[in-house]
Amino acid sequence: MIREHQAPSGAFVASPSLPSYRYSWLRDGAFIADAMSRVGETESAEAFYRWCSGVVEARADRIAALVERGRGGEQIERGEHLHCRYTVDGREYEGEWSSFQLDGYGSWLWALGEHARRHGASSAPFAQGAALSVRYVAEFWAEPCFDWWEERWGRHTTTLASVYAGLAAAREWEELPAETREQADRAAGKITAAIRAEAVVAGRLGGELGDARLDASLLACATPFRAVEPGEPVTAATVAALEETIAHGGVHRYPGDTYYGGGEWLLLAAFLGWWYAEVGRPEDARRQLEWIEQRAGPKGDLPEQVDEHVLSLEGLRGWTDRWGPSPSPLLWSHAMYLTLADELGVT
Ligand code: BGC
Repeated sequence: MIREHQAPSGAFVASPSLPSYRYSWLRDGAFIADAMSRVGETESAEAFYRWCSGVVEARADRIAALVERGRGGEQIERGEHLHCRYTVDGREYEGEWSSFQLDGYGSWLWALGEHARRHGASSAPFAQGAALSVRYVAEFWAEPCFDWWEERWGRHTTTLASVYAGLAAAREWEELPAETREQADRAAGKITAAIRAEAVVAGRLGGELGDARLDASLLACATPFRAVEPGEPVTAATVAALEETIAHGGVHRYPGDTYYGGGEWLLLAAFLGWWYAEVGRPEDARRQLEWIEQRAGPKGDLPEQVDEHVLSLEGLRGWTDRWGPSPSPLLWSHAMYLTLADELGVT
């Protein structure tokens, strides 16, 4: 399914089934490419990294100008920043969208780092785009932007963790100029310090700096991004709070979600399983894998979310009337299924 929906350019559409999802998000794509890299589809993964590098290189002048203005203390409008998604041939979407989301520029670096480590691959072919991405996120990581779900404006813990993971990978690459690596190292240190100082509330992570609200994307802060460790108490307390509220097999994005009724997301069920696998709970991890498998459509397609336990019936009706059913196949769901299966050694 993933191979079928990878464009010749290397981009992955989020889902072929919904017009507004026929774009390539850096966030979704990073996890999709990482899954492909895991299962030995190295050409597919590298085609995506090449696409990312090209998208960023094409905006080198814009990044340089933004960095210069940022350093000069100028206020940069959210619409001036790089975007979170592009057409498969690397163009920007022109309409209204919560387009400023920094996490993807960290996530693709993280995925590239995983790929390089796993396969002993060089990051040299992607070094120009990688260096530019480092300079961009190292400059702007502390700025508010939209979250993983493209809804909330703020300084989101998961966004910070995504950026941290990218910088922590990049600081190791000899293919990058020493100055860029040092910049990555400095910013990575500041980000983890900010998370420790401002995102930990009552012993667990909150969704935003200084805000305890729960969000299932917080799972990624530990597994895989390592802004906190999977085995440490703050992570266990975060997962326990999610289990008490929005994670029960399927996982909702956050309490009170109304998008498509706020159903249970398959990719989040996989993130939870991935964490269980990492902390030595294989039975719980396997249950997550099975939960996902049982939600596959007749052709094996995995949707974004299922509506068995929605948080808002009205929300479900509203979105379904306007757009039809939840997008399926969603490539990010497929990717997280593969990742969890690979963690459990069942691919
Ligand atoms: C999600 C994003 C995702 C996009 C494409 C949106 O509904 O909130 O996280 O990147 O869909 O899959």
